[in-house]
Amino acid sequence: MTATRVLVATAIVLLSLQTSRTAEAPAGASSCTGCHSAQAGASEMHALDGMPAAEIADKMSAFKAGSRPATIMDRIAKGFSEDEIRAIATWYAAQKP
Ligand code: HEC
Repeated sequence: MTATRVLVATAIVLLSLQTSRTAEAPAGASSCTGCHSAQAGASEMHALDGMPAAEIADKMSAFKAGSRPATIMDRIAKGFSEDEIRAIATWYAAQKP
């Protein structure tokens, strides 16, 4: 990991600490909300809260494998193991939309 990536990751973690969530998020989950807003209607982006875990996990795996067209999610998904993806997907599915 380059120093820049460490800095960016740290910034994302620090920013996400300010948002209160219902349960402690697994590693990496809080980095998603910057783009996938938790507030319905706040952005055009598909919110992850309440999305079925299998749907999140399947799409993330497809992004990771390069079989789902993406502008950025392919690169993001490659940063997570299948275990991490499952943990993140399970957590988002449990959040109230
Ligand atoms: C830098 C902004 C950004 C971040 C951070 C981000 N995403 Fe995404 N996400 C996107 C974009 C843009 C798309 C649309 C596909 C594309 O162009 O890559 C997308 C699409 C998705 C989709 C498919 C939605 C659908 O129904 O088609 C899922 C699932 C998803 N992201 C999950 C995640 C998860 C989980 C994280 C955190 C680990 C995350 N994203 C972090 C920008 C982001």
